[in-house]
Amino acid sequence: DRTIGVAVLGMGNVGAEVVRILDESAGDLQSRVGAPVELRGVAVRDLGKPRKVAQELLTDDPAALVARDDVDIVVELMGGIDPARGLIRTALENGKSVVTANKALLAEYTGELATAAANRKVDLYFEAAVAGAIPVVRPLMQSLAGDTVERVAGIVNGTTNFILSAMDETGADYGDTLAEAGRLGYAEADPTADVEGYDAAAKAAILASIAFHTRVTAADVHREGISSVTSADLVAAKKFDCTVKLLSICERVHGTDGRQSISARVYPALIPLSHPLASVNGAFNAVVVEAENAGRLMFYGQGAGGSPTASAVLGDMVMAARNKVHGGRGPLESTYASLPIAPIDDV
Ligand code: NDP
Ligand code: HSE
Repeated sequence: DRTIGVAVLGMGNVGAEVVRILDESAGDLQSRVGAPVELRGVAVRDLGKPRKVAQELLTDDPAALVARDDVDIVVELMGGIDPARGLIRTALENGKSVVTANKALLAEYTGELATAAANRKVDLYFEAAVAGAIPVVRPLMQSLAGDTVERVAGIVNGTTNFILSAMDETGADYGDTLAEAGRLGYAEADPTADVEGYDAAAKAAILASIAFHTRVTAADVHREGISSVTSADLVAAKKFDCTVKLLSICERVHGTDGRQSISARVYPALIPLSHPLASVNGAFNAVVVEAENAGRLMFYGQGAGGSPTASAVLGDMVMAARNKVHGGRGPLESTYASLPIAPIDDV
């Protein structure tokens, strides 16, 4: 009988909830995995901060934690590119499966990390990286793998949706609402990523890559944030029975010459109040997928925050743990085509 050892890197908004659920649901997780799941350690920056975890599990040396022989799965919840990128690579190269919510990293380096995972036949899962609790990565990678996705569009940033909803509903102040999004654990460590659309662009790059089986990075995504949207804009929108939402739109573009390309863009859009996305408020997200045979599918739920995101992380961790115990791997990232990015003026 084997025990699955888990290392958690980061104990902030999301990591703290993952650690809590691992502890509180240990029995359930064991029966779902088919083996005990044990937390081997938690890496943080500041060992002096009060935390709800046994002190002996804490370390400020993530590299040493990742290198431990009794760690089977590394759960990366630190954020940022470095040192997360190197730690994930090392984990994969040493035969450990990895679960991460780090969309900024994935939007640039999924190719490199997926190759490292494939070489060692281990899992790299990232359901939590797009739209918090909402299962949308796995449906695109798995359930829709036999279909042809034409469009993935929606609201994929909770912070900006929280701000725009509050400005629309109560005329709330932009700065106050952004600060509140930080307190509630929705905003990124640097909230510029949220309000300037970088976070939504990273998610669009991930969604476009898996939906269209190609490689799209954040730099390929046309991006505009919400920092110039004013309360007056929202009042004006209402006069036309509309509201403003930060939309991420990824589309397969069919050229007149029969060639296909990809368009991915993030921008604040005026949408009619009758549109299903108009009633997605607060930190909720919604993603509409249009596929040739499935038709239109809509995914809706909590897009940000510690517990909702931890739910997606734990789901991935259970899958990776099951594979460790019973063998198997997947769903696998599949990039079969290199589709060009359409110039924004052509879309
Ligand atoms: P936080 O900033 O709240 O937490 C980050 C944690 O990582 C902290 O515990 C911090 O330590 C630790 N950390 C950072 N750098 C290092 C380092 N070099 N060495 C050791 N520990 C380090 O982030 P969140 O929990 O909000 O987000 C984590 C990840 O999840 C990010 O990639 C984010 O984009 C993603 N995400 C977040 C969501 C959310 O709603 N918050 C939703 C979906 C994804 P210390 O506590 O000592 O500062
Ligand atoms: N800052 C992100 C958001 C967290 O507000 O959507 C979830 O990815």
